[in-house]
Amino acid sequence: RSRVEWVKGVEDVISLLRSSADVIVLAGAGISVNCGIPDFRSEDGIYARLKGRFGLKKPEDMFSLPLFLRRPDIFYSFAEEIYCAPGAASNRFRPGAAHLFFRLLSEKGRLRRVYTQNIDSLDLLAGVPKDKVVQCHGSFATASCVECGWQCEGSEIEDAVKAKRVPRCPVCPPKPTKVPPPDSNPPAFDESTLVEELVPPPLKPDIVFFGEQLPSSFHRLIQEDLPSCSVMLIIGTSLQVAPVSTMPKLLPPDIPAAVINKTLVKPGEFDVELLGDVDEVVGWLCKQLRWNGLLEELKRS
Ligand code: OAD
Repeated sequence: RSRVEWVKGVEDVISLLRSSADVIVLAGAGISVNCGIPDFRSEDGIYARLKGRFGLKKPEDMFSLPLFLRRPDIFYSFAEEIYCAPGAASNRFRPGAAHLFFRLLSEKGRLRRVYTQNIDSLDLLAGVPKDKVVQCHGSFATASCVECGWQCEGSEIEDAVKAKRVPRCPVCPPKPTKVPPPDSNPPAFDESTLVEELVPPPLKPDIVFFGEQLPSSFHRLIQEDLPSCSVMLIIGTSLQVAPVSTMPKLLPPDIPAAVINKTLVKPGEFDVELLGDVDEVVGWLCKQLRWNGLLEELKRS
């Protein structure tokens, strides 16, 4: 392997977690599965659940920007299954061990940044400071008009999401739009059944759909963080989606990367592989760091 010779194993990673101020975390949906939010690509993940539903050609199209712009009703027939906005009354998801571990890393002065692909904001809910979290794929925390950019809190579209209704811009004027007939529930996916109505443009949660740019802060901060970090923890992600999946490649060659995941991710590419359930591996890591008491305390609070 071309990566550092001196990284012998997990002891070296633990010693870096114990002593270095520049830990980078790259997180994915696997860290929230035990909190009740499915991941995307596991057998019972979101894409498996979407197969054959909503008239989609492929499950990923649920997060396609062109499809949203044409048929926002399709996204809103499904959104309530994954909706999780800070301050929303229906918010039933609580942070798990990994999110609380990130908070401990921050409190101990070890954390440079958490780059999360998750849109559930559970890192923030766990108490990781906002400036330490990059939500690479955005979140449900805010929603914006697709035409004028008018923005509101994500909790303000909660009623519409729960009712599977398309929330619409309160500022833009209505315009003729093809929508499903009012009595179709679930909506008619056959475009020929659509009827024309006068409606304002839809509001879209500020999550990054396929076909959209990642937030500019992502590109700025990886330039700052990656050259000078001390270790990267890759946790609960299959590393399938660029540009986030390219982050490990941008590490300097002498910086170790450790994977924590239920299944093998890009075997042989990383220095340390800790395979298992995220809560168990994080619990074990905290034990090695003598932070297990603190972790248990946070779990109870
Ligand atoms: P994936 O579903 O692709 O990967 C989640 C990984 O977590 C898988 O490798 C699982 O094996 C692992 N996993 C699941 N449960 C776990 C557990 N309890 N303990 C440990 N590991 C577990 O999710 P992401 O990699 O986050 O983007 O997906 C990346 C992006 O693809 C998402 O942000 C989303 C999606 O398309 C957009 O929607 C823009």
